[in-house]
Amino acid sequence: MTNNNHSLRADINDCRIIKLPTHCDPAGNLIVAQNSNNLPFAIERVFYIYDIPTDAHRGGHAHYREQQLIVAAAGCFDVEVTDGTTSRTFTLRRPSEALYVPAGLWRAMKNFAGASVCLTLSSTHYDENDYIRNFDQYLSLLK
Ligand code: TYD
Repeated sequence: MTNNNHSLRADINDCRIIKLPTHCDPAGNLIVAQNSNNLPFAIERVFYIYDIPTDAHRGGHAHYREQQLIVAAAGCFDVEVTDGTTSRTFTLRRPSEALYVPAGLWRAMKNFAGASVCLTLSSTHYDENDYIRNFDQYLSLLK
């Protein structure tokens, strides 16, 4: 199934930071992301990016259906999000802060600190047909 004929709904105000519960311990802190624990979707897939050059640009796409929670599991980086009209930049620097990116928003990650790990919790299985990778196409789908 392709999504090429679908239009998009996107609102930057749906994008927000969600605090994940943390169990602090002198021997190391533990953070939990558990379905039905105030998460905006059920987690279907987890992926993470590591060994990221500090000048790398990741992301640069939107999704028709997929929702994500993006976490700096280590290090720090910026996530630029836009709905085609309004843009916001979130600096993720705490493993307990997850950025909720709903479907329909364009996102790009950059300004990675050394040894950063970008952890993503996703609402769907991987499906290349769910990606919009061209920004002009993205803008035209919003009309
Ligand atoms: P991509 O989504 O383009 O990475 P980013 O947007 O973070 O820069 O994915 C990079 C490659 O990995 C691409 O070939 C697709 C593949 N991939 C999978 O096979 N499964 C997955 O779950 C993800 C997220 C990516």
